[in-house]
Amino acid sequence: MNPIEEFDQKNKTTISEMAKDSSLAEVTKEWFYKSSKYEYSYHFKWMGRPIIQFPQDIIALQEIIWEVKPNLIIETGIAHGGSLIFSASLLELIGGDGKVLGIDIDIRPHNREAIEAHQMFKRIELIEGSSISDEVVEKVKQIAKDKKNILVILDSDHTHEHVLRELELYSPFVAVGSYCVVFDTDIEDLPEDLFPDRHWGKGNNPKTAVREFLRENDGFEIDKMIQDKLLITVAPDGYLKRIK
Ligand SMILES: C[S@@+](CC[C@H](N)C(=O)[O-])C[C@H]1O[C@@H](n2cnc3c(N)ncnc32)[C@H](O)[C@@H]1O
Repeated sequence: MNPIEEFDQKNKTTISEMAKDSSLAEVTKEWFYKSSKYEYSYHFKWMGRPIIQFPQDIIALQEIIWEVKPNLIIETGIAHGGSLIFSASLLELIGGDGKVLGIDIDIRPHNREAIEAHQMFKRIELIEGSSISDEVVEKVKQIAKDKKNILVILDSDHTHEHVLRELELYSPFVAVGSYCVVFDTDIEDLPEDLFPDRHWGKGNNPKTAVREFLRENDGFEIDKMIQDKLLITVAPDGYLKRIK
């Protein structure tokens, strides 16, 4: 084993030991609950645009994008555009002609204006409409038709029904070895009082959709190593790797 492999191997061992530490899991859960009250995930920006993600998940996405080097990243759920700018900036650093396709049912004018004015917009295309509508999916197919190495990130409506439909519609785009990342699976694990005015909650969220999807689809598996090393993630069981 060379020194680089040795380093990676040691990390694998410590990560799997860490994942079994129930006292650490308890502290993490408590930290999660307490910080969520302050809308922790809204507090960060990527190159000037708000990105509604935890820094840990942003790092995990960076690792995935570097490893996969996709030539198209499809993201549902744009909000302020920070996640699109993030993906585009990594594709820019990697080089090549990789593009990002963002889909949102409601691209607010001030967000559109800021995204379009951004230096990374040269790698971004926006579609306004529901991610599960026939019209939007048809447009995505046209854009994706010549792309062989696609990564998908689902972060729009977090209801079971919507995410399951997104998984059915968008998983076929994902290349073998690439990922379909499903955000906000943590809703299943958090106390209901954190989402009092939402139309999703325990039993009706991205994690329940992932479970149903995986029962029928053996082409994907949960990459547990990612959540095990992050500990703090909004996507437990949401990093789905296409294996065949
Ligand atoms: C959590 S935010 C996305 C955050 C963004 N990915 C980021 O990391 O900064 C969810 C977004 O999903 C959008 N959305 C809700 N329902 C949708 C649907 N049916 N199709 C597409 N987008 C939808 C909302 O308008 C909102 O902007």
